[in-house]
Amino acid sequence: MQKFFRYLSQSKDALSLVVPAFKRNRLRVLSGFLAIIAVDIIQLQIPRIIKKAVDGLQESSVTQPELLRYGLMIVALALSIAALRFGWRYLILGFSRILERDLRCTMFSHLLTLDNRFFQKRSTGELMALSSNDLASVQIAFGMGMVAGADAVFMTIATLGFMAYIHPILTLIAISPMPVLAILTTVLSARLHKRFTKVQEQFSELTEFVRSCLASIRLVKAHTQEKHQSGLFNDMGKEYVRDNIRLAMVQGTLFPFAGLIANTSMLLVIFFGGRYTIEGHITVGEFVAFTSYLFMLTWPMMALGWVTSLFQRGITSLGRISGVLDEHTALTSTETEKLPADTKKLRIQDLTYTYPGQNRPALEKISLEISPGILGVVGRTGSGKSTLCHILARLSPVMDNTVFLENRDINTLSITDFRSRVAYVPQDIILFADTIAANISLGNTDATMDEIQKAAATASIHDEIMEMEEGYQSRIGERGVKLSGGQRQRIALARALLLDRPVLIIDDGLSSVDMDTEQKIIAALSGYIRDRICIIVSHRIAPLVNANTLIVLDQGRIAAQGAHEELLRTNSFYATIHKYQTSFTTTPPENSTEPGGPAR
Ligand SMILES: Nc1ncnc2c1ncn2[C@@H]1O[C@H](COP(=O)(O)OP(=O)(O)OP(=O)(O)O)[C@@H](O)[C@H]1O
Ligand SMILES: [Mg+2]
Repeated sequence: MQKFFRYLSQSKDALSLVVPAFKRNRLRVLSGFLAIIAVDIIQLQIPRIIKKAVDGLQESSVTQPELLRYGLMIVALALSIAALRFGWRYLILGFSRILERDLRCTMFSHLLTLDNRFFQKRSTGELMALSSNDLASVQIAFGMGMVAGADAVFMTIATLGFMAYIHPILTLIAISPMPVLAILTTVLSARLHKRFTKVQEQFSELTEFVRSCLASIRLVKAHTQEKHQSGLFNDMGKEYVRDNIRLAMVQGTLFPFAGLIANTSMLLVIFFGGRYTIEGHITVGEFVAFTSYLFMLTWPMMALGWVTSLFQRGITSLGRISGVLDEHTALTSTETEKLPADTKKLRIQDLTYTYPGQNRPALEKISLEISPGILGVVGRTGSGKSTLCHILARLSPVMDNTVFLENRDINTLSITDFRSRVAYVPQDIILFADTIAANISLGNTDATMDEIQKAAATASIHDEIMEMEEGYQSRIGERGVKLSGGQRQRIALARALLLDRPVLIIDDGLSSVDMDTEQKIIAALSGYIRDRICIIVSHRIAPLVNANTLIVLDQGRIAAQGAHEELLRTNSFYATIHKYQTSFTTTPPENSTEPGGPAR
């Protein structure tokens, strides 16, 4: 019972998602319902005409033209039913599509507000399944489900009214088996909900599997994993089918059972109704009309099971969607302070950052003042460099009073405004299946071709682009597959340079270019930087020797800080790393990209 109430309250929460769409489209929905009711009322007139005809025949009082008139009346009613059915289809099914679109847009806009933590928790496949399969279930529930539900409810009430008008006791006899159906529907509803949730989750997993497999297709092929992956997919498919069959078994119980109950009612009516007719309590015409009404009742009773299952699916899916909409970004912004005019001083004070579910902090007690010029961040893999970049690009949440822009706590500043001051080149480059020009001008679509070319030149990629057959109009394939790793990185850098923002963060964005090119780019950046803050992460110290300040991160802590020459003289840890790395540069080039630093 407790479970049932919990389920009811969850359903209520989920249903609140569709209320706004109902309010906005109330006229459309209301007109649709009126059309359904009109169809039902007209349908209910047909047995009355049949009754008149049968009674007339019984008493031999009906003439041929009168019979023809009855027939024509039935045809006219059928025509109006057809027109009205078109009407409710247009209105209600149209509404269900509007609702689907609204929910899809709400969900998409909401997803764009969420932070890294959310996307680490939920897979892309799951989110794609939500916006395809789950939204489709909601659409069906509030389209066909709602029509069939309204039709069934109204038809049941009206039919029972007409039946009771003919003979109340016979009506009670006819509906006596129905409570069994009501009990069965309630019991099976909860089971249906559980099984449908499982099936939808499995569909999410399947979608995610296909997505990740296709995204890493080159890896799959290189490791000759095609057969293995197909096998895994096959197993997942089998499990999905098995659970779908289990779901169909629950639905399959409900539907025929409703039919069985309806036929039991028919048996009772033929037996008792026949007796009432013989005894003269009702006329033959009334008996025929009564059985016609009972036939009409069969559909709503059968529909009850179907509608229950459609709504069950719709509400389960709404619950899954509402689970995403209930998620909120952990990035807080009280926006109490106006963003300072300048972005000349970023200050980090005693910052410790631990990823959710981790015991060890990724950054520990970091204090740092960042002024215009180049800040080089080096450190071995896993030392916390990207974590620091995420925080400074406002992608990961921080505690209050740990990061300041011009002495204002960044948690009090607008996130969007703050981000609009930062150009960020992530460690994992993201390019789109578009032209090079479009990829560079992402975020600054008003940029002229001259500006695009200038940014590309600073990123040392202009000449290579010009050598391509279609130059800046070359299409680079999905995720830039047609480019080398180094080319991809420099296009991403050009994109960030074009944004022309006061803070530039390059998270290991030059790791795939050779050392000479890296040095050339950093030298070119010196001209670009002027009074900008530029944070460059690299595994290697060499390209950053001219940085105004260098920090070495080690297990989340700052192990060395200062200018290169000064550090070489005063910091033995730094000097050791430098020696270690420079000894590597004299070895063959492929070793030159080895992560730096001795193991501690
Ligand atoms: N999303 C995450 N959830 C949990 N732990 C994480 C997450 N991202 C990073 N870490 C952990 O935080 C630490 C710092 O990671 P970070 O990515 O900042 O290192 P990095 O210095 O950028 O390394 P690399 O040079 O390999 O890019 C590592 O121990 C890593 O395992
Ligand atoms: Mg990193």
